[in-house]
Amino acid sequence: MSEALKREAAAQALTEVRSGMRLGLGTGSTAKHFVELLGEKVASGLDVICVPTSEVTAAQAKSLDIPLSDLETLDRLDLTVDGADELDAALNLIKGGGGALLREKIVAAASDAMIVIADGTKLVETLGRFPLPIEVNRFGLGATRRTIAEVLLAHGAEGGLKLRGEDKGTPFVTDGGHLILDAFFGRISRPEALSMDLLNIPGVVQHGLFLNMCSKAYVATPDGVKRLL
Ligand code: 5RP
Repeated sequence: MSEALKREAAAQALTEVRSGMRLGLGTGSTAKHFVELLGEKVASGLDVICVPTSEVTAAQAKSLDIPLSDLETLDRLDLTVDGADELDAALNLIKGGGGALLREKIVAAASDAMIVIADGTKLVETLGRFPLPIEVNRFGLGATRRTIAEVLLAHGAEGGLKLRGEDKGTPFVTDGGHLILDAFFGRISRPEALSMDLLNIPGVVQHGLFLNMCSKAYVATPDGVKRLL
């Protein structure tokens, strides 16, 4: 989908930012537009302090002179603006396509509000078309993978599990030094139960289901930007 639509969604989210806010900055191509637009506002005097959700976003924000902090210095944030791989009408999300899901979830959970910015292709009736990213510890990968596969079966997953990057010969490593298994569901019918079942596996660090975390979304379509609450 076009970069112009992602930028329109990002521009709408920016209208919610006020001087004095503590912001979480998301990761991905849509969040990148938001950070770029925020940088322009900061250059013209907007006073914000931000916590980035990845090294990539941190580098972009630094290059734009956006003031950065962390969750040791700030215990709460006013707002996080981030992209998503999928969102449903209830604003439940799949995230982690860019591999930043752990920091994204930590930052979103420390925020009073989370706005998702996306183009219309991300809106789905039922989550699961996009493979669910599951961040796992490197130790015991085989055992963790087998247990996740059992959970997938119990939840009616249509496909299997893939170690991200394996096909390219080098596994993808997250900012936290972990690996990602992408789980092919097709359709996730019981997201809350799946979330709990995955988090019960010791080798699972986090997964990309963001349930009841997002308060608003700006979804850009060729007919305009829709606000979902
Ligand atoms: C990164 C993410 C991204 O927000 C998600 O992958 C969407 O990215 P994009 O805006 O490039 O489509 O969760 O971990």
